[in-house]
Amino acid sequence: MNILAFESSCDETAVALVRDGRTVLYDAVLSQADMHAIYGGVVPEIASRKHVEAIAALTDQALCGAGLTKKDVDAVAVTYAPGLIGAVLVGVSFAKSVAYALGVPLIPVHHIRGHIAANYLAFPALEPPFLSLAISGGNTLIVDVRDYTDMEILGSTRDDAAGECFDKAARVLGLPYPGGKPMDELAQQSSGGVYDLPRAHIDGAELDMSFSGLKTAVVNLVHRAEQRGETLDRAALARDFTRAVSDELVPRVMEALRRTGRNKLVAAGGVAANSFIRADLEAACRAAGVELYLPPLRWCGDNGAMIGAQGYYEYLAGHTAGLDLNAYATMDLSGKESVE
Ligand code: KG4
Repeated sequence: MNILAFESSCDETAVALVRDGRTVLYDAVLSQADMHAIYGGVVPEIASRKHVEAIAALTDQALCGAGLTKKDVDAVAVTYAPGLIGAVLVGVSFAKSVAYALGVPLIPVHHIRGHIAANYLAFPALEPPFLSLAISGGNTLIVDVRDYTDMEILGSTRDDAAGECFDKAARVLGLPYPGGKPMDELAQQSSGGVYDLPRAHIDGAELDMSFSGLKTAVVNLVHRAEQRGETLDRAALARDFTRAVSDELVPRVMEALRRTGRNKLVAAGGVAANSFIRADLEAACRAAGVELYLPPLRWCGDNGAMIGAQGYYEYLAGHTAGLDLNAYATMDLSGKESVE
């Protein structure tokens, strides 16, 4: 089954063709990051406009690159939640019109389910059940993936997402947007151990996480140093900051594995590209005898192929939508609760 998949929830316009949920025939991603970099973050209105400009040409590129015509498309999948509402709406509207014009089923896909499914592209033998640590610019979740479309959130951030925290900390350190990758590169220049940064603990909710205190601590530390004219060891700060983020994530996901008895852990999302977090997950999983799946960097960030992968399993589960499908800025991973 050939699925034409669209992703436009943030600042990447992405269109892909995926066969049977596992084989990528073509994956076209156009990042707008350079455009937003001068503002230090994504400007939603600009993101929506750029999606409108790019999506039709990217669709032609994807079909052509896959060596397919429109007649070969068996279904259309699209990210319908969560994300910047104007940006998501562009993908949803375009996908609806394509599905209508081609007379094929329309499959709504939750963005985070897509991030998790990116691993099906990289690891052909991977099948649920497993636990997933989904860490991106907008979400930080520990998810029990009982089956391809049956998931339960075991832990989540109470405030900022891990990626958002990386981006804000990077900004005060004068690094370009998006800040995760430059922070990673800066942190590699130091072994840290210089700055004492806070770790959160939420009483009674040991699997939940919090990043706003850490973010504020870094912002205050940098501002204080500027006011006093002190020179910061930026590389050490990047390293100590990354260690604090990893300390927030890794012990909690290991605790979730212990509680559930699952023996497979699947990392997902842009922050899963972080070299230190990857190394910490590897060490923890090796010690606990857990099988770890780390997606190749290509599949960590937003892309259309991951939506095509999850779309296939949503289709098999009968989760298709009519042309009244709406876009949602926020939605629970279970797909049950939504706020427009
Ligand atoms: O998954 P993603 O591409 O988009 C969302 O769905 O949100 O994640 C983007 C986030 C950004 O916050 C970016 O700074 C972060 O992933 N990121 C990283 C790294 N590469 C990207 N964070 C830490 N280390 C990295 N190497």
